[in-house]
Amino acid sequence: MKTVRSVAALRSEIRNAKRRGKTIGFVPTMGALHAGHLKLIQTARRRNDLVVVSLFVNPIQFNNPKDLKSYPRTGQRDRILARAAGADLLFIPSVRALYPDGFQTFVEVTRLSKRWEGAARPGHFQGVATVVAKLFNLVQPTEAYFGRKDAQQARLVRQMVLDLNFPVRVRALGTVRESGGLALSSRNRRLSPGGRRLAGQLHAALQEGRGLIKWGFRRPERVIARMRRRVSSKRIRIEYLAIVDPGTLEPVRRITGPVWLLGAVRIEGVRLIDNLTCSAP
Ligand code: PAF
Repeated sequence: MKTVRSVAALRSEIRNAKRRGKTIGFVPTMGALHAGHLKLIQTARRRNDLVVVSLFVNPIQFNNPKDLKSYPRTGQRDRILARAAGADLLFIPSVRALYPDGFQTFVEVTRLSKRWEGAARPGHFQGVATVVAKLFNLVQPTEAYFGRKDAQQARLVRQMVLDLNFPVRVRALGTVRESGGLALSSRNRRLSPGGRRLAGQLHAALQEGRGLIKWGFRRPERVIARMRRRVSSKRIRIEYLAIVDPGTLEPVRRITGPVWLLGAVRIEGVRLIDNLTCSAP
């Protein structure tokens, strides 16, 4: 596995791979790799000739400077894990390499950025879309891999690829969970063992919602009320629980087809998100 840090070095590796007709699988990450990321890298390995992984804590997607500062940085461990999972090339740029002085061009996926994570974290999705567009231009992947845990992000990236004609196939892979149901996330390491146990309640609430829909509930407000009741601890602050259309991410008025159940909570000051897909039978 090779590590490159500059745009020029990355471009040269990509040029060589393209010249040889290689397919490129790309996994963009902010490091602090966990089993969810490793599943993306392993899938990219199985499906592509060259596997590129980027490790870059993207400052422009953090609306809260404290969050940016406390984001876990585990470079050495990440390198070992990425190599073991099958990465061929690691791209670890500096902030200056991607955002040199004078940088002033941003990508915005307007409607899909408005609600949920976009409302809670102003500017977040503009930062995500901008860095992903830059990385796609640099890596020129055949396929790019994202986790379904960040459902809104994956939906938004698909829209950007469509709108801006990137020749990339976006693959969103299923969420990897701890045994108690908690979706793996780099943020989980900031929870105490007790907080981690409590966090499973978010998944349990989403599962309850899915169960009710399967059972015949059609009014979203009734399902959401029951999901809220399932999050029983006073130590959990619900930010939102929602039932949305998978295409527009707008709340549905009635559950008649496929929907996404979305949730965000705060536990011990840590913001956690999760989701499940579901379809009315
Ligand atoms: O999901 C993430 O880790 C980040 O939002 C991404 C896609 C790597 C962009 O910085």
